[in-house]
Amino acid sequence: MSTESPFSSPQTYIDEFDPVDYYRTYYHPEEGSLIGEWLEFALQNLHETFTSGGVKGDLLIDFGAGPAIYHLLSGCEAFNNIITSDFLEQNRTRLQKWLRKDPDAFDWTHVVKRVCELEGNSDSESCKKKEETLRKKVTKVLKCDALKENPYDPVKMPQADCLISCLCLEAPCEDVEYFTNILRNLKNLIKPGGHIVIQSVLNCTYYYVGQKMFSCLSISKEEVEMAFEEAGYEIVQLKVTTCTEKQKDISNYDSYYFVHARKPCS
Ligand SMILES: C[S@@+](CC[C@H](N)C(=O)[O-])C[C@H]1O[C@@H](n2cnc3c(N)ncnc32)[C@H](O)[C@@H]1O
Repeated sequence: MSTESPFSSPQTYIDEFDPVDYYRTYYHPEEGSLIGEWLEFALQNLHETFTSGGVKGDLLIDFGAGPAIYHLLSGCEAFNNIITSDFLEQNRTRLQKWLRKDPDAFDWTHVVKRVCELEGNSDSESCKKKEETLRKKVTKVLKCDALKENPYDPVKMPQADCLISCLCLEAPCEDVEYFTNILRNLKNLIKPGGHIVIQSVLNCTYYYVGQKMFSCLSISKEEVEMAFEEAGYEIVQLKVTTCTEKQKDISNYDSYYFVHARKPCS
């Protein structure tokens, strides 16, 4: 196993990121390395944000979903419409498969059950209803590119009440300045006074998808905080949890972060 991580270019992502390997490595109910601490951290934060946190509205934009839907299961109760997106066509195809209930769509039922548990009702009827709610609320699956000033160009986007992104912004960045720049560009996609919720990992330089290694921007808690401030957001909450489940053969992150921030009203 190599831990050297040359920067993964957009072309590397296009050629080498396999959504089937990604799902198996990270989210498969038995083998997935993110089942457990990460999912518990991410789902709990999203549940709180979209219930007691009072974050709700008309439009939720999901930036860099990969082939995953776990992070939308709470938000689908708090927003009328969801636009999800990813840079890669192979990931967008996987999102469409789940939305269409294709027989070979990835199975997220274990995660649906956990979110329904957080909401206090995890019988099979409630779980089915939750999946249907999410399928109905996702109105578009778009291409996004964090390296563009307007990440959805040429699509004209309505401004969102909230933008969320999980485990994504560190993927295309070479340095913290670029990370800050992406946050600045994302601000244009959010209504004045609207919310941004970003969750990811700290101090991580690589992650594996099957046998392929991808680079990750290694960022600290202080750098995340500074990036949000420099990009012009007001931080509502910044939470960091040290991870105890270390699997260095897959990735070398040491903690998870959650940021809820707001675009100023003027
Ligand atoms: C580690 S995966 C995260 C996927 C998913 N959000 C999750 O929580 O599991 C990193 C994601 O970054 C996306 N990505 C890579 N380059 C990108 C770019 N230039 N703009 C936006 N997303 C990009 C990849 O397509 C991939 O889906």
